[in-house]
Amino acid sequence: MNRKPHVAVVGATGAVGIEMIKTLEKRNFPVGKLTLLASARSAGKRLRFRGEELTVKELTKNSFAGIDIALFSAGGGISKEFAPIAAQAGCVVIDNSSAFRMDDKVPLVIPEINAADVKLHQGIIANPNCTTAVALMALYPLHQAFFVKRIFASSYQAVSGTGAKAIEELRRQIEQIVKGQAVTKEVYPHQIAFNVLPHVDSFLQDGYTKEEMKMQNEGRKIMHHPTFRASVTCVRVPVYRAHSVAISAEFEKPVTVPSAREVFNKAPGLQLIDDPAKNEYPQPLFMAEQYDCAVGRVRRDCALDNGLAFWVSGDQLLKGAALNAVQIGEELLK
Ligand SMILES: NC(=O)c1ccc[n+]([C@@H]2O[C@H](COP(=O)([O-])OP(=O)(O)OC[C@H]3O[C@@H](n4cnc5c(N)ncnc54)[C@H](OP(=O)(O)O)[C@@H]3O)[C@@H](O)[C@H]2O)c1
Repeated sequence: MNRKPHVAVVGATGAVGIEMIKTLEKRNFPVGKLTLLASARSAGKRLRFRGEELTVKELTKNSFAGIDIALFSAGGGISKEFAPIAAQAGCVVIDNSSAFRMDDKVPLVIPEINAADVKLHQGIIANPNCTTAVALMALYPLHQAFFVKRIFASSYQAVSGTGAKAIEELRRQIEQIVKGQAVTKEVYPHQIAFNVLPHVDSFLQDGYTKEEMKMQNEGRKIMHHPTFRASVTCVRVPVYRAHSVAISAEFEKPVTVPSAREVFNKAPGLQLIDDPAKNEYPQPLFMAEQYDCAVGRVRRDCALDNGLAFWVSGDQLLKGAALNAVQIGEELLK
């Protein structure tokens, strides 16, 4: 790998793409050259990187000549079509969509958990689902210490997880309500302002949604834990940024609150914010734009054997997407 790689961001104008550009700059990723790609709609738009204005170009089959690393965040359809073309052109793709996550030939990586898997890539590396990433940042260290058997979880997912149009939808609906106007819907099937929707992604035959099953399926692959089980309810909430997950986890080995806190205190990329007497616990409002995730409300689960209940929050645009992708890029350069 070129030590000063030519990097492309595919979907550069989107909620994740914008964060990718910022993260490459903030973390001093040794970008030799940056190419910004999006649809024809955004071609010509200018975005700043390291104090310079770069022009967004239209993504085409010929976009990848000379590019070393391509960070994809333009949706699954675009990834399916263009990631193999990019890999064929000799570029390593780090893909944010769900298109390749469960493909055996594609490593699915959270660097704090399975960084070594990056080396197994054959041109494409997948970034995990954002809710799964936030949850595993707290669950995996516990798994290493106590061996997790299963979890029951509910998510509280921010609208930015759906992309730039959903951020705009929440803003618009709040304004419409404040002005006493009729609420209009474009992104979600129901009003999201002042509401919660127990519906993220499409429904499967068994009643779970695709998003809900990602925790078990992707969790197994990332933790190298084929018997891990997860029953999840994913909920969209009127929060702009940062997902939260309430988890009850059952372990093979006995777990105590002090031993879990010790594990959390040593875990990379994780803060322990847990002082109920002072009303201190992780809140999405304050986790937005933070690289670390945070865990709190740590307590013995009263309904499980060897169980622990806890609450995790993290910026899904960062740890669930842009930051994790740039960290994978950093692993590639090691
Ligand atoms: N949002 C999150 O928290 C999150 C977390 C993890 C993973 N992801 C994944 O990341 C991807 C992007 O999500 P997002 O939230 O950033 O969505 P978004 O805000 O809607 O942005 C979509 C991006 O894709 C580009 N795009 C759309 N159609 C295109 C085409 N035909 N050719 C080239 N570029 C095209 C858009 O460009 P234009 O401006 O030209 O339309 C825009 O830059 C999705 O696969 C999503 O599942 C998102």
